[in-house]
Amino acid sequence: MKKIAPSILSADLARLADEVQEVIEAGADWIHVDVMDGHFVPNITIGPVVIKALKKVVSIPLDVHLMIENADLYLDAFIEAGADILTVQVEACTHLHRTVNAIKEKGIQAGVALNPATPLEDLEYILPDLDLVMIMTVNPGFGGQEFIPQMLPKIEQLKRIINERKLKVEIEVDGGIKVANIGDLARRGGDIFVAGSGIFGTPDRTATIRKMRKEIGP
Ligand code: DX5
Ligand code: ZN
Repeated sequence: MKKIAPSILSADLARLADEVQEVIEAGADWIHVDVMDGHFVPNITIGPVVIKALKKVVSIPLDVHLMIENADLYLDAFIEAGADILTVQVEACTHLHRTVNAIKEKGIQAGVALNPATPLEDLEYILPDLDLVMIMTVNPGFGGQEFIPQMLPKIEQLKRIINERKLKVEIEVDGGIKVANIGDLARRGGDIFVAGSGIFGTPDRTATIRKMRKEIGP
């Protein structure tokens, strides 16, 4: 089942509960939360306190994307705050196997995200341990950036590898996703689609999510 994960980075954060409610009613599958530390990426966003507050009003899984250094120090705080899926950036984790398994030991899903310039080879020995791989289709740090088309063959190649190795790893795609390109991404192997400006930046979010769903199929 393909999933749509609106990113709250592009929501009106002064009305966060209402914004999230709107996309849940429109059929969002997960809520994507972008955590940025001002070190790994040149932007600072939100942390566990906001996730804890969101958890009280959100009935669907919270998909937490950590764009931070020293993720190991903060895993417990994010899990206790209510993260259902925790994804770390491969470039920010020196002991990735330890980090991934620390997440899974807490009984939630673990993902690894790859920056656009990071090769799939970095996943070779960790892939069987993962619930999902997040292919970044923009350089992380900001919403509203342009989709990088060189990432299309990367998604296809990852799909091939997962199938060849008979793994159950899902492919999440994050950055620059709109109604116009989501169908292509699904056909190439994407399973979960993060969209910030592509949903919250449109006047009728319900209509946008419906159109996206039609594009990606079941
Ligand atoms: C980028 C974030 C994305 C971002 C996507 O660093 O990881 O999740 O919110 O925003 P859009 O969909 O506007 O590219
Ligand atoms: Zn993200």
